[in-house]
Amino acid sequence: MQFIEIDRDSCKRDGICSAVCPAELIGIDPDGFPVAAPDAAAQCINCGHCVAACPTAALSHQKVPLIDCLPIREDLMISTAAATQFLKMRRSVREFKEETVSRELLAKIIDTTRFANSAVNYQPVRWVVVRRPDDVRQLAGLAAEALRKQPNEFFERYVKAWDMGRDLILRGAPHLIAAYASTEYTWAAVDSAIALAYLELAAQANGLGTTWAGLLTIAAQSSPAIMEFLDIPKDKKLLGAVMLGYPKYKYRRIPGRNEAVIKWR
Ligand SMILES: Cc1cc2nc3c(=O)[nH]c(=O)nc-3n(C[C@H](O)[C@H](O)[C@H](O)COP(=O)(O)O)c2cc1C
Repeated sequence: MQFIEIDRDSCKRDGICSAVCPAELIGIDPDGFPVAAPDAAAQCINCGHCVAACPTAALSHQKVPLIDCLPIREDLMISTAAATQFLKMRRSVREFKEETVSRELLAKIIDTTRFANSAVNYQPVRWVVVRRPDDVRQLAGLAAEALRKQPNEFFERYVKAWDMGRDLILRGAPHLIAAYASTEYTWAAVDSAIALAYLELAAQANGLGTTWAGLLTIAAQSSPAIMEFLDIPKDKKLLGAVMLGYPKYKYRRIPGRNEAVIKWR
């Protein structure tokens, strides 16, 4: 297959594929049809925008074949008000039912994160799912031990609570999902944070609750035991994690937040 293939019968020669390409890798030939630049294969980030934007499905891409690009279904579109409420009503959930989440559902919400934006479409994020509640408990214990060694008033209350049999670190969550990526990659932390934000919203859409496990992430920085437990390779960094499960309580209101601080220029 050519790098891009054009169905000349359905191509409307509207230039949209060329216009949406991030790096002008699609030119227009003298007859008005799209044509790949000579260095397209080397420079393309495989974002698939050329395929996604074509109104007549006339373009296919070697790395992003038309057949793999699902059409956007109008019947599944949500109203602006519904989308806005969905985003505003996401809350950190710290109380969970004992019920565990199926592997299929965990896989489904992680699948959604594949569509998160990432710098140059690099998609660097990798995941670890801790499925067994006992293992999550064990991780919380490892985090408590690591935090105990750090002279920090903030951590003290979490360690004390742990010693008294209360888990404020991973909140007795049945599951934990951790994101990791290469330590070398410039945008790793940003891409992970975006993917985790997607994960939280995908979880909410599927009736699940999440909270960032920031304390675990901090503890992992000084705890080879946590990294080993999560089976994160030495050249990779734990960049964030969320506790996850079915929420025990339902939030009924959207709490206020600070006004956005904006400079209009
Ligand atoms: C990077 C990050 C780390 C966090 N770490 C923790 C944590 O370790 N424990 C916890 O209970 N909540 C943690 N949170 C949740 C925040 O406390 C929560 O997002 C904030 O209070 C706002 O509440 P909301 O998420 O319901 O809007 C973390 C959030 C972020 C973004």
